[in-house]
Amino acid sequence: MAASKGNLRIDAAGVGSTPQILRLDPSWLQACVALDQRALDGLWTAEQWRRELDDPRRLCIGLVASETLLGVACGWLVADELHITAVAVDPERRRSGHGGLLLQALLQRARRHGAVHATLEVASDNVAALALYAKAGFRAAGTRSGYYSDGRDALIQWCRIPSAPSPTPAT
Ligand SMILES: CC(C)(COP(=O)(O)OP(=O)(O)OC[C@H]1O[C@@H](n2cnc3c(N)ncnc32)[C@H](O)[C@@H]1OP(=O)(O)O)[C@@H](O)C(=O)NCCC(=O)NCCS
Repeated sequence: MAASKGNLRIDAAGVGSTPQILRLDPSWLQACVALDQRALDGLWTAEQWRRELDDPRRLCIGLVASETLLGVACGWLVADELHITAVAVDPERRRSGHGGLLLQALLQRARRHGAVHATLEVASDNVAALALYAKAGFRAAGTRSGYYSDGRDALIQWCRIPSAPSPTPAT
């Protein structure tokens, strides 16, 4: 079962069946923890998720359809950098463009907050994530050997965040 939100407060626009990107607030805590269990094998505890959702310097966005959280992308704003800490899509909803959409939305929101570069660490054998980040313009900038608890290496990646494309002038 996908991660649904508990006491949902629907904003004026509503949260309908068309997937939309929302900035997640603490009312999404339970849904984030449930998605984390399904998609990230329990990366963060509920307390760590609460901090992600509470802190204004941390950006945490979700892709939501019919009040269900399909994916998340989170990062920390540090000076003019965005440190991406999590990108995950529900296992049953992958390969539909959701990960790419979330990553681009996170980068653009970070850009609006003044970030011009983004960085992250990714396991050297995470084929899906490496392909996702390469497609978004990330390039490897180093390795942290044995970074993960199971001994895998992490690749450090960086990208310059492109400006949002200007709207096409009417002809
Ligand atoms: C990585 C992840 C977020 C991708 O989400 P997704 O919604 O499936 O990604 P998209 O459908 O937007 O795919 C975008 C691109 O990523 C690449 N990609 C995604 N999944 C892939 C896979 N399994 N194998 C190879 N390339 C893949 C492709 O280049 C794809 O573009 P294409 O569909 O045009 O070929 C998802 O696999 C996931 O949640 N993984 C577990 C959590 C994780 O590892 N997060 C990263 C931690 S650093």
